[in-house]
Amino acid sequence: MEEIFNNVFIDGDKLYTKNLISGEKVYGEKLIDYKGKELREWNPRRSKLAAAIMKGYRELPFKKDSKILYLGASTGTTVSHVSDIVEIGKIFSVEISERSMRQFLKLSEMRENVYPILGDASRPNLYSGLLEQVDFIYQDVAQKHQQEILVKNSVYLKKRGIVFYCVKARSIDSIRAPEEIFKEEIKNLEKYFNVIKTIDLSPYEKDHIMIIASLR
Ligand SMILES: C[S@@+](CC[C@H](N)C(=O)[O-])C[C@H]1O[C@@H](n2cnc3c(N)ncnc32)[C@H](O)[C@@H]1O
Repeated sequence: MEEIFNNVFIDGDKLYTKNLISGEKVYGEKLIDYKGKELREWNPRRSKLAAAIMKGYRELPFKKDSKILYLGASTGTTVSHVSDIVEIGKIFSVEISERSMRQFLKLSEMRENVYPILGDASRPNLYSGLLEQVDFIYQDVAQKHQQEILVKNSVYLKKRGIVFYCVKARSIDSIRAPEEIFKEEIKNLEKYFNVIKTIDLSPYEKDHIMIIASLR
C-alpha cells in the first residue's frame, strides 16, 4: 500500500481514500483498515477521477484546504472521495437533478466540506452568491454544450486555477468518431486554457477523456 496523494492510497489495482466520516459508506464501497486508518475503496468504474489515477495520473494538485467548484455532482460518488482528500477545503457542488440532489444532501449533511447547490451549471450567475473563488473546477456534466458551461463557470476560477474537464464523446455527437470530437474539444479549449494533460479513461469508461488545463 502506498499513499500517492494526501489521503489517497493505492495497492495494486485497488484505490482508496481515507474516510473522513468513520464507518460511513457512500455507494456501497468496501471499508478496510490500514494501520489504524479507515480507507474507502474508490471504484474507477464509478468515478472518472479514480479512472484517471488508475491510468497513471500522478500530479493531482488538490491540497487539504483546496476550494473546488464541482459541476455535475450527481449523487456524490466522486465528490465524496474529493471530500476525503480536501479535508478542510470546500467543494461547491452543483447538480441540476432534484432527484440526485435529494440523495446528495444526505452526504453533504455529514460532510462539512461539501456545499450543495441545486442549479443549472449553464447559468452560473444564478449561484454566484453561494460560492467563493476556487482553486479548481471539476466538470462532469455529460452535455452537448459542456465546453460553453466550463468557460462560463471559469469566472469563479482563481488566477492560474486548474480545470478537470470530463469529455464523453457520445454526449457531444453520437455519430462522429470520438478521436475527432476529442481533437476539436482540445483545440477549442486552448482558446481559454493551457492544456496540461489529456487522459484516455478506457477501459474504465469507453470513449471518454479527461482534460486537465490551467486558466490562461
Ligand atoms: C456523469 S453524471 C456525474 C457523475 C459524478 N460526477 C460522479 O462522478 O459521481 C452527470 C451529472 O451531471 C448533471 N448535469 C447535467 N447537466 C447539468 C447542468 N446543466 N447543471 C448541473 N448539473 C448537470 C446530471 O444530472 C448528472 O447527475
